[in-house]
Amino acid sequence: MSNAVIILAAGKGTRMQSDLPKVLHAVASAPMLVHTMRSGEGIDAERTIVVAGHGADLVEKAALDYNSDAQVVLQTEQLGTGHAVEQARAALSDFDGDVFILYGDTPFITHETLQSMKDKRDSGASVVVLGFTAANAGGYGRLILADDGSLDAIVEAKDATPEQLMVNFCNSGVICAPRDVLFDLIAKVGNDNANGEYYLTDIVALARDAGMTCAAVSCDESETMGVNSRVDLAVAESTFQFNARHAAMINGATLTAPETVFFAYDTIIGRDVIVEPNVVFGPDVTIESGANIRAFSHLEGCHVSKDAIIGPYARLRPGAEIGDGAKVGNFVEVKNALVAEGAKLNHLSYIGDAEVGKDANIGAGTITCNYDGVFKHKTIIGERAFIGSNSALVAPVRIGDDAMTGSGSVITLDVPDGDLALGRAKQVNKVGFALRLMNKLKAAKAAKKKD
Ligand code: UD1
Ligand code: MG
Repeated sequence: MSNAVIILAAGKGTRMQSDLPKVLHAVASAPMLVHTMRSGEGIDAERTIVVAGHGADLVEKAALDYNSDAQVVLQTEQLGTGHAVEQARAALSDFDGDVFILYGDTPFITHETLQSMKDKRDSGASVVVLGFTAANAGGYGRLILADDGSLDAIVEAKDATPEQLMVNFCNSGVICAPRDVLFDLIAKVGNDNANGEYYLTDIVALARDAGMTCAAVSCDESETMGVNSRVDLAVAESTFQFNARHAAMINGATLTAPETVFFAYDTIIGRDVIVEPNVVFGPDVTIESGANIRAFSHLEGCHVSKDAIIGPYARLRPGAEIGDGAKVGNFVEVKNALVAEGAKLNHLSYIGDAEVGKDANIGAGTITCNYDGVFKHKTIIGERAFIGSNSALVAPVRIGDDAMTGSGSVITLDVPDGDLALGRAKQVNKVGFALRLMNKLKAAKAAKKKD
């Protein structure tokens, strides 16, 4: 049976103290909403419905930016989780399969956990709820099990008896049921409870009343962590980073000081990559095997090929494509540029909107002048070209294969293959001038003292 996910994301998130809707606050460079959408991908969700309310326009944009096939439905008033799910009824009217309810502020539910819920569904339970054993059950809904181990009911903390409050097996909120069952039950949910809300959780007791079997599946509490405040957000970030560092190392990367390396939600790191201390990966970075990312480098939107060396103190911006064994050294910034195999940009350069040929050598202080204030222009540097230190390459411009530029040149014209370009004032030496000048100045100083 195919899967769909409904992601509840209408809440305001008052405790975030923010103008931004809660689910758009980022963990590992992606809105929490995107993390939840990725959880859905893990079970090959055919349909993704996001229920938006507060800041719906922004939530919709973020959802569609990530997955243009997602559907966003509006919950104008937040009357409870059951009411939120109800808003997805029409969007799923033509869907036949299992529906998972996920939360935009609960970013860490794993594919494996959702799969174990799916397995439980396949073994005959109509409604499957994800539970966890809480260190401090507090305000969570309690999962009440029947004698046979099946799930009898979910009781919200506010509506629970003292005896039920003793239970520490809690509701994560994540629920899976076939579409028809889910919406038939939701239609029966009322709001006669302590909060006056339509509780999604009531569908368990309603299913039992209708003679259906309900089941609970358990996961670790850390997975079900929800974010309600900036403090929780920081905990979520550190949890993510801890797991990402662990996974990178397990998969064969060396992190010299893992606690100082920050990954994005989608960083891909190959085997035998070495990441030195204090490296930050923004979104959309792939590092191939054997590359070395040296200390204090910042990378985003880039691809680093085999055995390349980046940094220390390098900055790779979106569109940086670094070839096999290429070197991008200290205080070098690369943006939207192809740096071919074996090329060297070792010190203090800005290379933007450019192509750097195979085995080219870019001297210290080379700048591609790519922007005229309105348009961006391209610089092409040929294979084995040698760019003298402190060259300014004024784009659009092409430096040929095996060509050279003299240090300190301002290059405004194309340089043919194999030529040397000198774009600087010619040097003139004045014989003995320096010595004569110095003596004159010293004499003037001595005369001044006597006065
Ligand atoms: C819910 C569960 C509780 C569970 C807990 C886990 C219900 C009734 N209770 O309680 O059993 O232990 O989650 O964290 O479901 N939302 C909407 N629209 C609404 C209401 C909520 O989109 O009208 C969204 C919220 O933005 C939030 C999520 O649904 O992301 C959960 O709502 P929340 O109010 O936090 O429910 P809890 O009281 O925490
Ligand atoms: Mg909550």
